[in-house]
Amino acid sequence: MASSEIPVPTVVNPWTKQSLLELITTRMQDVKFIVVSNREPYIHKRAGGQIRCVQPASGLASALDPVMRACGGTWVAHGSGDADREVTGRSGRIKVPLESPSYTLRRVWLTKEQEQEYYYGLANEGLWPLCHVAFHRPHFIQKTWDAYRQVNQLFADVVLEEAAGDPAFVFIQDYHFGLLPRMLKNHAPNLYVAQFWHIPWPNRETFRAFPWKEELLDGMLGNDLLGFHLRYHCANFLDTVDRNVEARIEHEHSEVTHGGKTTMVRPFPISIDFEWHESMARSPEMDNMMEFWRKEIGAVPECLGIGIDRVDYTKGIPERLQALDMFFENHPEYRGRVGFAQVGVPSRTQISDYRQLNDDIESQTARLNEKWGRGDWVPIHLFRGEYSRTQLTALHRLADFCMVSPLHDGMNLVAKEFVASRFDDHGVLILSSFAGSARELTDALLVNPFSIDEMADAVFRAVSMPTAEATRRMQRLRAATAENNIYRWAGKILLALLKIESSAPEPEPVPNWEWEGVSVPF
Ligand code: F6P
Repeated sequence: MASSEIPVPTVVNPWTKQSLLELITTRMQDVKFIVVSNREPYIHKRAGGQIRCVQPASGLASALDPVMRACGGTWVAHGSGDADREVTGRSGRIKVPLESPSYTLRRVWLTKEQEQEYYYGLANEGLWPLCHVAFHRPHFIQKTWDAYRQVNQLFADVVLEEAAGDPAFVFIQDYHFGLLPRMLKNHAPNLYVAQFWHIPWPNRETFRAFPWKEELLDGMLGNDLLGFHLRYHCANFLDTVDRNVEARIEHEHSEVTHGGKTTMVRPFPISIDFEWHESMARSPEMDNMMEFWRKEIGAVPECLGIGIDRVDYTKGIPERLQALDMFFENHPEYRGRVGFAQVGVPSRTQISDYRQLNDDIESQTARLNEKWGRGDWVPIHLFRGEYSRTQLTALHRLADFCMVSPLHDGMNLVAKEFVASRFDDHGVLILSSFAGSARELTDALLVNPFSIDEMADAVFRAVSMPTAEATRRMQRLRAATAENNIYRWAGKILLALLKIESSAPEPEPVPNWEWEGVSVPF
């Protein structure tokens, strides 16, 4: 059957904020809920003599904030803003969001040196490239591992203080805290500990390069529940454990027993608050915001493509620009008619490779514009800076196609946000097969981001796609995203934790809701 003939599925009973709230009020009344992440959801910064509260460009923070608004509880995170201390007071606690306080943010203070070694060093120069396998060499330095251990202990102390001996669900985020689960369980076995690893888990051969394998894996096996985006990452993790640690693995139930303790390992593809994004896209303020972009872009081309990324080598921005170059080369008929707006949010600029990447993207854009630009037509518009969610939603609305082409990504929420914004069913999504979201968003034009030819071809397909086909594809993308929303992600994780809490004798069968058919080379 041609893709345009496949019917649009109807969304059956999606999880909502309300259903998540009901789950919490009926089943979790007597337990505290504590979330832990490195990145805080609200950062206080000094700008022009004033203090501004900003939300960081973080998929993790934007995905979890609506969940915390619904659940309440405490979010423990690194207080990284230069005005954080001023507004927080001695306890380190502040109620957020400021306009309608719904949960407590407990800020943890790190020294500059701790931040340098644990966050920039071990987490982002060691584990980040190791897990993404984007042909970027990881660096493993003993003093960064020591700082990682020290900061994990610091967070453990704060979580234990927040739990205050009461039963609590502790939900740890990401690769910054591989040792924290074990540290918590050693001190408070009555805590229910879950961790979600937001980046890929590599195959066991790749993981061999990590010098502190056993300690990290032992730390992670302190969890009662360990989640990855994809079944593929769960399988890689089980395989890695099998190779490196004394443990019993039950593949059928996706469980590991190590030192007498069992950890469930499950896929939970993360998502967004679909309705929130859609209503933002429909809001009256969009007109002004779209006007803002029209001014920024100048002469808006007949057909506009967009890319929105943190400037990170895993996101494949230089490769995307090369593909646009090849597209203009191969299709002279589109010169002067197609333009591309690339938003690059500065990220981890303390690391020299990230600074270099910023410079490379800037000079590549200049070369391309020099090569192809003519009259008032500028082929590539590069916007480097931080933009609000409203501004980014307006850019989604203006676009005819969106390119999300990471070399490897755990999930990638930009793809889902673009789709949620397009209530008009317009716009084509070009998506890397190596983003976790490609498993769900199969109606995108799926591309291999390492193949410049394939991506250039996808740009041509996007700009020349018949409207009826583009509409059908977008409708199906929207249905998939509406159904697998952030409340489903959180609800499934909480249900799995509740199952552990009530010590159900029958383990939950591994859910079969990850789409098959997309190959991942790593
Ligand atoms: O993708 C992994 C991740 O930690 C996300 O969870 C987060 O959105 C992103 O990287 C940004 O990272 P950082 O917090 O280092 O800016």
